[in-house]
Parts: sequence; C-alpha cells; structure tokens
Amino acid sequence: MSKKALVTGITGQDGSYLTELLLSKGYEVHGLIRRASTFNTGRIDHIYTDPHMPGTRLFLHNGDLSDSGQLVNLVYNIRPDEIYHLGAQSHVRVSFDMPEYTGDITALGTTRLLEAIRRSGIKSRFYQASSSEMFGAAPPPQDENTAFCPRSPYAAAKVYAYWMVVNYREGYKMFACNGVLFNHESPRRGETFVTRKITRAIANILKGKQRKLYLGNINAKRDWGFAPEYVEMMWLMLQQDEPDDYAVGTGESRSVKDFLEKVFNYVGIEIEWRGEGIDRKGIVRSLSSALNPALKVGDVIIEIDPRYFRPTEVDFLQADISKARQKLGWAPRTTFDELVKIMVDYDMKLIGLDPVGEGIKICEKKGFSYTNHDFSLYEKIRERC
Ligand code: NAP
Ligand code: GDD
Repeated sequence: MSKKALVTGITGQDGSYLTELLLSKGYEVHGLIRRASTFNTGRIDHIYTDPHMPGTRLFLHNGDLSDSGQLVNLVYNIRPDEIYHLGAQSHVRVSFDMPEYTGDITALGTTRLLEAIRRSGIKSRFYQASSSEMFGAAPPPQDENTAFCPRSPYAAAKVYAYWMVVNYREGYKMFACNGVLFNHESPRRGETFVTRKITRAIANILKGKQRKLYLGNINAKRDWGFAPEYVEMMWLMLQQDEPDDYAVGTGESRSVKDFLEKVFNYVGIEIEWRGEGIDRKGIVRSLSSALNPALKVGDVIIEIDPRYFRPTEVDFLQADISKARQKLGWAPRTTFDELVKIMVDYDMKLIGLDPVGEGIKICEKKGFSYTNHDFSLYEKIRERC
C-alpha cells in the first residue's frame, strides 16, 4: 500500500516541488486547491493526469483554509498518513494591507486543519510551514531556541500557528512538526517576491520589454536557499521517530543589493550606486556583453519606490542549522551564486532568450531527480491553455 499525503498550498512554489518529491517516492498525493476564475494550477499542470487514467496518484480537491467543513471532510475521507500544511497568505507586504484576512488564513487556517485531524480521529503526521519571519527583530543567527519577535501581521499569524502546533503535539500527542524555514527561492517563486521580481526584471530588460526596476529596502538581509532542497527537509521531518521543530536555511546571509549585483553581473552588467535613501539609483557602469543592445552606459535601471517599504521591516535573517545537520543529516547543496544563476537562466529561457547557461547546468548537476528541471515548463503549459 502506498502512503497517502494531503498537501495544502499544492499550487504554490513549495507545494509543487513537494508533490513531485512525494510522487517520486510512490505516494498517493491529494491536494487542496481553491476555486479561482482563472487557472491557478500552472505549477502542477505538468504532473497532473486525468483521475480516470489507471495509475493516477495525484488528486485535487476543491477547498479553502477558511472552510473547516471541507477540511474535516477531506481528512476524514482521504485518511492521509501525512499532511503537509503549506497553504497560507504568504506575502509579508500584502499582510499589512490585509491583516485580518492573513490572520484568518495563515493563523486560523492551521487551527482548522489541526482540529480536523483531532475531530476525525485520524492519526496523520502533520507538517507546519513555519517561517524565519517569526524571528523578526531577533538578532542573527537564529535557531530553534531564538525568541520570536514578529514584525508583520504575517509573522504574528505564523507565530500563532507555530504555538498551536506545539500545543496539539503536547496536548493531544499528535505527530506534529514545525519546519522553521528561511527564505527559499526558485524559478517557480511567486513573481512579487524580491528575488523573482529581480530575475524576471533582468530578463525583461534584456528583451527590451522593461526599462527600470523599482524596489523597496535593498539593505535587508536574508538567508536565501534553493526551494527543491527545502521540501526534502519537510518530508524528512515526518519520517523521524519523534516529532520536533527544525530551523532550515543555508547559514549565510546576503542583502537584496547583493542579490541585485550578482544578477546583473551574471549577464555582464556592472552597476554603480549613486544617492542615498529613496534617492538611491542603480546606474549602468559598464556592459561587457552583447546581450543587450537596448542598454547603454549611464542608464538608470534601478530606483527606489517607497511603495515597497514595509511599516516594520525584518533587517537581518541568518540561520543556525546545527540541529538539522546533527539530527537529520541535512545540509544545503546549492550556493547563493548558483541560486542566482539558476533563476536568471530560467527567466531568460521563459521570455525566449538564450540563457547564459551556467545555472541550467548547475541545476542538472545537482540531481534533484524528482523534478525535470525545466521550471519554465509550467508557463508554457499555461500559454497553451
Ligand atoms: P506560495 O507560493 O505563496 O503558495 C501559497 C499556497 O497557499 C498557494 O498554493 C495558494 O493557493 C495557497 N493558499 C493561499 N490562500 C489559501 C486559502 N485561503 N485556502 C487554500 N489555499 C490557499 O508560498 P510558498 O513559497 O510555496 O510557501 C509555502 C508555505 O511556506 C507558506 O505557508 C509560506 O508562508 C511558508 N514559508 C515560505 C517560505 C519561502 O521562503 N518560500 C519560507 C518560510 C515559510 P493559490 O495558488 O490559489 O494562490
Ligand atoms: N517583495 C519585495 N518587493 N520585497 C522587497 C522589494 C520589492 O520590491 N524591495 C525590497 N524588498 C525587501 C523586503 O522589504 C524584504 O526585506 C526582502 O526584500 C525580502 O522580501 P520578500 O522577497 O517579499 O520575502 P520576505 O522575506 O518578506 O518573506 C518571504 O520569506 C519568508 C521567510 O523568511 C516569504 O516567502 C514568506 O512567506 C516567508 O515566510
């Protein structure tokens, strides 16, 4: 009998990679998708097959984290061995505009799912997508023992969900784990998170479709890793003898400005910075390749737009992953430089440019055997629909 998993957030970045990983391990995977008037399954269309086909192991179910009735129904009827709870309003900046909705989905959505397990009496193992954002203003490096100091409605919602998981573990003896994951990115990253916004912008600029990139706080520092590796950790946590909480990151931290410079350097553009604060501008100092005939030295291509500032910011996240290393034998395999190259290559490919190519080679070499590495595939499928 193959194991069954229920995945919330299956249409997101992590949900799509995790589903590929679970299918490669022989699981039957059930995913919660929410009704939308446009297609929202682009990241999983390439692995979806008609449920009438023999051998189908991926099943999608309508539902929403605001609807406890359907959550109970799904848990009771699917009887999953493992539940990966990745669904959330996951955008920090948006959570300031929609604090109540964020609390409802990101915080209470977790409680609804935990209650669905408890009330249905099913012995599912539970993974909660906790976040390094919960550390907020706590100084780096942060680990499992660092006190939370949330700096956004999103982070406060995740802290609530974190403690509900701990309480259900202790109070009801549930096998429930918090993976406290630091930022992880990929070519499937949502387009409004800063890394993807930058790698999409460079592809657009090279194609001549965009002239400038507007950003917020470029001094913020994050511990950025490669998402396909992080979903392996989610699975690993649920395979242990005892449930526990783990911090997962690379142990290294870079600023948004570092990320920007690496991206531009990779395609042969050197940036010079002028001005301070909101007057800071990124100007083309030199162009070493023929990649972009539309650009010239002296062009202003990066500007600051206060619209992207957050009322309260998280300045510095950097993981201490000693526990994950020691107890789970896990270590990240993709460096910051490699991550940049992978993301730029796939965004160039997506827009119809010849990628520089180092990132695609790195990605193939890393051997994430459960995915086909052609992260742009889902966009192509979407275009055909
Ligand atoms: P993502 O790409 O934004 O995906 C979020 C998923 O949640 C999507 O499938 C989305 O569905 C679903 N969702 C949103 N609202 C929902 C609702 N009301 N009911 C049901 N589903 C809903 O996020 P991600 O980057 O994959 O992250 C996965 C999880 O890990 C999230 O909980 C996030 O907060 C957490 N996390 C992420 C990181 C990171 O760096 N990526 C780090 C730490 C923790 P639609 O596709 O329909 O929008
Ligand atoms: N999104 C965005 N857009 N962020 C910008 C911009 C911009 O134009 N300019 C600067 N930033 C800065 C943000 O202020 C923040 O300090 C940093 O870039 C990273 O922002 P995001 O990529 O939006 O990610 P995040 O760190 O706020 O949140 C992500 O990581 C968390 C884990 O620490 C999300 O994936 C969360 O769901 C996740 O929990």
